Amino acid sequence: MFGSTQQDGTRTPMIAGNWKMNKTTVEAVTLSQQISFESDKAWEAVEVVICPPFTDLKSVFNVLAFDHSSIKLGAQDVYWEPDGAYTGAISVSMLKELTCEYCIVGHSERREYFGETDEMVNKKVKALLAQGIRPIMCCGESMEVRDAGETLDFIAEQVRLGWAGVNEEDVARSVIAYEPIWAIGTGRAATPEQAQEACAHIRSVVADLVGSDAAGKMRVLYGGSMNTGNAELFLPQSDVDGGLIGGASLDAKAFSALVEMALKAK
Ligand code: 13P
Repeated sequence: MFGSTQQDGTRTPMIAGNWKMNKTTVEAVTLSQQISFESDKAWEAVEVVICPPFTDLKSVFNVLAFDHSSIKLGAQDVYWEPDGAYTGAISVSMLKELTCEYCIVGHSERREYFGETDEMVNKKVKALLAQGIRPIMCCGESMEVRDAGETLDFIAEQVRLGWAGVNEEDVARSVIAYEPIWAIGTGRAATPEQAQEACAHIRSVVADLVGSDAAGKMRVLYGGSMNTGNAELFLPQSDVDGGLIGGASLDAKAFSALVEMALKAK
């Protein structure tokens, strides 16, 4: 269940859609039906994940179950406590009940607008892994940090703090998304070389933490204005194992085209 590599040892590519705060229930049902309609058996070679808002998880789950779809469900956030007086929060068990296999943590929008720190990210990562949900942990620098030439040190620190105390096996089944803040929602993606450099660096930091075997199995995604016009440049990069897609994941045809590109790239 937790393998992220294929039989030949290569990492299974992943295309994950982060719907952010978009789609009412009715709209979410329509979009997930459209994506499911576009999919076919070949998609099983790519791990395709959709991450709707909490309020849409149940209805999207129903669509995917009805269609016997191989598309997996992910959440966009979680709280680390198991239950109790935490108004507005959602627990890992609640996500598990809805068959979420993945959960995004530490997205830069959560860090910026909701005050999420690396320590909070780490608590979420551990709470998820303890119950078998795989984190997709986001990291990425601002333009200020990039201009100062500190990108690699900055993302290395986010990865070290986010993954602190996580064992080799758990790292191997987890995912990191490199999402430079300046590329998110701006239409200005990183260059494929910048993405490859950052993703390779993330893998080497993880290798220092838990060993190169686990680091070699862990998927690293690129995110930030990835779309059908540029994905073909990112996906063949050796350390880029797929994409975390925002805007383009809200369009079934575009999202499906990205999955097809990931199929061809590896
Ligand atoms: P965009 O693809 O809209 O730039 O968003 C990327 C992102 O933040 C995915 O998590």
